[in-house]
Amino acid sequence: MSKDNQKNVSRRDFIWKIGIGSVAVSIGGASVLTVRYMKPNVLFEIPTRFRMGMPEDFSPGSVTTDSKRKVFIIRQKTGAFFAISSVCSHLGCITQYRSIDEKISCPCHGSIFNLSGEVLSGPAPKPLQRVLIEINDRGELIVDTAITVSDDYLLRV
Ligand code: FES
Repeated sequence: MSKDNQKNVSRRDFIWKIGIGSVAVSIGGASVLTVRYMKPNVLFEIPTRFRMGMPEDFSPGSVTTDSKRKVFIIRQKTGAFFAISSVCSHLGCITQYRSIDEKISCPCHGSIFNLSGEVLSGPAPKPLQRVLIEINDRGELIVDTAITVSDDYLLRV
């Protein structure tokens, strides 16, 4: 075999390997995309309807913050309950309860709300939304943040 032939064979091998490699990458990529396509795109979101426990777990005159579910559970001194969303009505930041002055404040642009959710100051255009709170047949408090109720809604237990 001449030197020229050896050079041609090695070039041929090189091109063959490049070809095989390209085909392997194409098949691998197509396989990954096919498997990914067959797997459903599911968003795992927190349910809007959930149990909050028994009414006696909440003392009268208390504010309970559930930051994961973005809701405040307020039990008035009379024992009645209501729930308000902690999502600010301005641009949707999560508000926080301040026990020191019993107000709800928004960390983003400084809106302040009272415990009924009414705007006291700041750019928020409307009150915090009151959401459904009810009792199920086992006597547990159920909150549904997807259902809004009127600003005077109260759950009496
Ligand atoms: S998002 Fe709350 S004041 Fe702007």
